[in-house]
Amino acid sequence: RRLFGVAGAAGAVGLVGGGAAGAAATAAGHHDPVALTTVGSAHIPFEGARQAGIVQPAQARGHLVAFDLAPGADRRAAAALLRRWSDAVRSMTRADRPAAPAAYDDQVAYDAGPASLTVTFGFGRSFFGRTGLGSALPEALAPLPDFPGDHLDRTRSDGDLWVQIGADDALVAFHALRVLQKAARDTAAVRWQMNGFSRTPGATAHPMTGRNLMGQIDGTNNPKPTDPDFESRVFVPAHGSPAWMAGGSYAVVRRIRMLLDDWDHLPVARQEQVIGRRKSDGAPLSGGTETTPVDLAKFRPDGSLAIAGDAHIRVAAPASNSGAAMLRRSFSYHDGIGADGVPDAGLLFVAWQADPMRGFVPVQRKLDGADGLSRFLRHEASGLFAVPGGAGPGEYVGQRLLE
Ligand code: HEM
Repeated sequence: RRLFGVAGAAGAVGLVGGGAAGAAATAAGHHDPVALTTVGSAHIPFEGARQAGIVQPAQARGHLVAFDLAPGADRRAAAALLRRWSDAVRSMTRADRPAAPAAYDDQVAYDAGPASLTVTFGFGRSFFGRTGLGSALPEALAPLPDFPGDHLDRTRSDGDLWVQIGADDALVAFHALRVLQKAARDTAAVRWQMNGFSRTPGATAHPMTGRNLMGQIDGTNNPKPTDPDFESRVFVPAHGSPAWMAGGSYAVVRRIRMLLDDWDHLPVARQEQVIGRRKSDGAPLSGGTETTPVDLAKFRPDGSLAIAGDAHIRVAAPASNSGAAMLRRSFSYHDGIGADGVPDAGLLFVAWQADPMRGFVPVQRKLDGADGLSRFLRHEASGLFAVPGGAGPGEYVGQRLLE
């Protein structure tokens, strides 16, 4: 168990969470270290070959935010912004958490530990034109094709810069967003923001794959870090192109509304056929338990396919898409109930891959027409972002592109 938030030391540093910890120590008349529960103290390092927030499980709270550069903000201004952002995140994610730089800090996360905070930065296609970096534009950042089923709101799509924030505490996540927004002042403004959530660690009796707002266990057949081809599927290789993207990944972001009233009218047995898995425990309809490999070739005694021709897991499977695969790491969202009584809810779908043309694009092309689930979904916003490798000590994210 990690111990931190020593009241005496807090005063000396001037920024560290004194607050409740300090009060408790004073009331007790001594300065014992005060421990947070494991949720608060869990800490994911900011520095590394890869950015944090890709391979770790989605946190309980997520913010996806796109920024556009201010008119006249050039490459140097963008570099300075990424430096400020990286330094702020480095500070906010520290295990002993001396909060954010004083200039931006509002003390919203004053008493909390890092709570698995991750902040992941990406660049949209429009960033390169605005900063005169057209020659560094990755081929993989070609605009996503139009999918016939799309209903995209362009004002909530794309953007020069993309920030993905995740934390297991909503105040810690809000604080990070606020710090970054203030650090962006004069250089970039928020273009769109989406707020999401997923299961809180400890909410289930033992760690389990999470559920989405349709009630399905979601994430089972994701590529796993132990798979031999995990790295090559998800990350740009060390000698990949362009060189500044080595160790990076491409994030496809889709705001996918779930037509929950229509969905809820389907009997559970039909819902299971639409996905190809049992709702209660996520087992494939070809048999076994949640983690049993899916058998797409299995027939029932009556001669019908155990996993229907239009089942989501059949149409989306790598086997149906020349091996195309992606790491899905999504948050759910719920933005209230409309005048029509229908919830504005669904999935902030985030897919990570080394190349969108070998990940999201061919799979979505197929799903858009052939997936039984698509009748219950509406893709409302979309973005594609180049997420460079992580920052080393003293570096900032994107340094190899911007310096
Ligand atoms: C699998 C739900 C959108 C790609 C699954 C599973 C569920 C699910 C319940 C089975 C469990 C699992 O393996 O994770 C949903 C919902 C969506 C959605 C509710 C929209 C709101 C998408 C999109 C894509 C996608 C847009 C990609 C373009 C996949 C893939 C699998 C999968 C690749 C694994 C298939 C396999 O190999 O077994 N999804 N999904 N999904 N989904 Fe989705």
